[in-house]
Amino acid sequence: MSATPARFTADWLALREDFDRQARDTAEPPLDLRAFARRLCRNDEPLQVLDLACGSGANLRYLAPRLGGRQRWTLVDHDPDLLAAVPVALAHWAAAHGFFFERCAGALRIAGTGWRADIETLQVDLAHSLDACPLASAALVTASALLDLVSGAWIEQLLVRAGAAGAALLFALSVDGRHDWQPALPGDSEVARLFAAHQSRDKGFGPALGPLAATFTAERLAAGGWHCVRSQADWRIDADEGASDIDMLRTMIEGIAAAAFEQAPRERDSIQAWKQLRIASLAHGRLVVGHQDLFATPPEAASHTPSTR
Ligand SMILES: C[S@@+](CC[C@H](N)C(=O)[O-])C[C@H]1O[C@@H](n2cnc3c(N)ncnc32)[C@H](O)[C@@H]1O
Repeated sequence: MSATPARFTADWLALREDFDRQARDTAEPPLDLRAFARRLCRNDEPLQVLDLACGSGANLRYLAPRLGGRQRWTLVDHDPDLLAAVPVALAHWAAAHGFFFERCAGALRIAGTGWRADIETLQVDLAHSLDACPLASAALVTASALLDLVSGAWIEQLLVRAGAAGAALLFALSVDGRHDWQPALPGDSEVARLFAAHQSRDKGFGPALGPLAATFTAERLAAGGWHCVRSQADWRIDADEGASDIDMLRTMIEGIAAAAFEQAPRERDSIQAWKQLRIASLAHGRLVVGHQDLFATPPEAASHTPSTR
């Protein structure tokens, strides 16, 4: 099956950002990010963070205030439109939260109480040019909603490079295949099966790990002697919560149905029937989407072991 390079719109990333934040805020077990960051800082230098597949910068918006202290971020993506959206998205976010924001000669600076982040963006195709990223200088390599798109071989490459750099890893929000719909409807499990198969298709990095991503990565980390903490960070979408949840449910239904159809065009009628039933019950629908967060430090950095709160 040929690769379908993963493309994501800024609108979709903006829609999911609140759900991502809530999922990470309620992750079990929670991680003490501030203590984690303090232990990663080298010689009083700013914390060097490399964010892989940054989209419009949601991972930075989540982490920067929670890590605290001085930080220097490199945001990497292959999509020039998403990278171009980063400064605008960060400026809006800074204004909404009363943070200092400055844009100077292509670099960005944002600061809030107890933290400051200097930020640059870099366009790199991570599937083919991982070495174009400044991995060697990173103290923290992070990504959100990336791992399920990549292959096992790509993860192995990344772990070798991050291990050589002595960098910690923080991979947020990898889907784990759990979809719990309320109310349950005919077709849920069949459509979920097709959707999971679609998630394992090549997204440009080789056969995608899809729902197996967190388990595969945690096993490789353990085999390499890394210290690893795994948390469950699920999306909880509930139509009773209001318009953006309803929007999210509708987008999920349409996206899942489209992927299922692409996976099994002959099942068109049953997929269409499922979609119609789901849309008809939208006003009272609820959906939990299982996600996993992974935090890890390399073997030689035992004193940096991630701690839970
Ligand atoms: C699900 S989005 C997550 C974006 C962001 N981390 C967030 O949490 O909002 C996946 C991201 O992977 C990026 N991506 C996909 N394939 C890529 C590649 N080959 N090289 C670099 N980035 C890639 C997409 O452009 C997109 O920004």
